[in-house]
Amino acid sequence: MENRRGGTFNIRCAVNGGKVEREIDPSRTLLEFIREDLGLKGTKEGCGEGECGACLVLVDGKAVNSCLMMAVQLHGKHLTTIEGLKGRDGGLHPLQRTFMEEGAVQCGFCTPGAIMASEALLRENPGATLEDIKLGLTGNLCRCTGYEKIISAVEKAKQLL
Ligand code: FES
Ligand code: FES
Repeated sequence: MENRRGGTFNIRCAVNGGKVEREIDPSRTLLEFIREDLGLKGTKEGCGEGECGACLVLVDGKAVNSCLMMAVQLHGKHLTTIEGLKGRDGGLHPLQRTFMEEGAVQCGFCTPGAIMASEALLRENPGATLEDIKLGLTGNLCRCTGYEKIISAVEKAKQLL
């Protein structure tokens, strides 16, 4: 990572499998970088302070609330957003499909973060139990579904991965 005159940094990273190089201000959050600089609007801003999980993405495969990480910390890392999630056939990822099938998407605001949190959980623990799933989603707030349908969607996707 190179510090340029004017206080910006040059970062190189991978975003959803493609190489990205950008000049960024060190005060920029990863969430601002994703939504405003990269134009990837699937990642949502809810609370802006690490409480709701709407902004959750994967950095090197690990779940991260992007409102709490600075964009410069992405240097040399791999970012996956909801736009980068795909099934083996290049179509919808099983979680994207089961969230729709189970009615786990209502207003949809929490959905990208909930799906990315579920993906991180199932990558780490493919045999996740019901309790593991509930625990894995505790950082993702949903004002619409009552969580039951989200949990069913994750349980169903687990069989398809
Ligand atoms: S917007 Fe990041 S956790 Fe709520
Ligand atoms: S579907 Fe509306 S917040 Fe979860």
